[in-house]
Amino acid sequence: MKKKLFKAGVIGLGVGMHHFQALKNHPNCIVKKVYDFDKLKKFNFKKKFPNIDFVKNENEIFQDKEISIVSIASYDNFHYNQILKCIKNKKNIIVEKPICLNKKQLSSINSLLKKTNLKITSNMVLRTTDLFRQIKKKISNKKIISIEADYLWGRSYKLYQWRSQLKDYSVIHGCAIHVIDLVLWLLNKKPITVYVKGNNIGVNKKIFKKNSYVIILLKFSNNLIVKITANASSIYPHFHELKIFSKNSTIIHNLQGSYEIKKNKKIKKLFSKYPDKKNRLNIIHSFVDNLKNRYIRSIVNKKDIMNSMSISLAAEKSMKIGKEVKIKYEN
Ligand SMILES: NC(=O)c1ccc[n+]([C@@H]2O[C@H](COP(=O)([O-])OP(=O)(O)OC[C@H]3O[C@@H](n4cnc5c(N)ncnc54)[C@H](O)[C@@H]3O)[C@@H](O)[C@H]2O)c1
Repeated sequence: MKKKLFKAGVIGLGVGMHHFQALKNHPNCIVKKVYDFDKLKKFNFKKKFPNIDFVKNENEIFQDKEISIVSIASYDNFHYNQILKCIKNKKNIIVEKPICLNKKQLSSINSLLKKTNLKITSNMVLRTTDLFRQIKKKISNKKIISIEADYLWGRSYKLYQWRSQLKDYSVIHGCAIHVIDLVLWLLNKKPITVYVKGNNIGVNKKIFKKNSYVIILLKFSNNLIVKITANASSIYPHFHELKIFSKNSTIIHNLQGSYEIKKNKKIKKLFSKYPDKKNRLNIIHSFVDNLKNRYIRSIVNKKDIMNSMSISLAAEKSMKIGKEVKIKYEN
């Protein structure tokens, strides 16, 4: 049997169950403690995993000296303080997006982490999708003319759960950030400004008081414009649509399939996997591998997180003030 090197704790057992499974399945990791403040979650978890310590309070995880990785999958408003507790107690951090809710918090996480050797990752799952990996390779040498990327959530009921009760909840941080990260990763370039318009036509405004639909325009230094939408309330399956126009070809990924259209107008089908749920655990596996061996790259690192969060926060500001905003990146 391989030696278990890392002990982990998980907080929040919604999408956190996937964090739990990924950590549990890693050959060098064991999950020592989990916590969720929901009694039903506790009941169901204990039934399924009687040997894992379901603690009474998150501090039992932060203060456990044996635990070196904490996975945070709580509601958005808890992430910042839980990250601070991780840093204070020397824990490496896996944290769901958005990792925090304002620029001051982001800068403070960045500067606090710089004073440590601790590592952080976030669950930007689209990077692990086989189809998007194939598309990244295809466009690497191409001159891109424009990109359109849509996050079609197709799960509007989720807006009426805890998300409707958070003062700072945003579909930019909750949905669009996934395609923002996808575009940064595909292009390996950062935009300089962002301009956003949003509305809430599609929702019950008495319950969900924020915008549920946003259009985000990212402008790059070479004049490239990328259009991103987050559409949280329409009738549609959960889907990430993509159109990439380059000088020599166009790539389309939509409900009808995934295609490359060549200059001679010939259409070639792309067969790589989408969605690719199995590969999603690679974010957490690569993070643990990187802790073990720094030459193995973590799929999502601190810089990636700081970049997508800086854009997402600037986008939120643009939507509030109705103007194009220059993006301030963290160093
Ligand atoms: N990366 C992704 O693809 C992805 C997908 C879904 C959700 N998320 C993110 O994950 C987070 C959780 O969302 P979800 O969809 O799993 O919600 P959820 O409601 O399905 O589950 C959240 C769970 O966490 C528990 N919880 C919340 N705050 C807690 C706290 N402070 N301490 C203990 N338990 C706590 C709740 O009781 C609940 O069981 C959000 O930040 C969301 O943006 C990311």
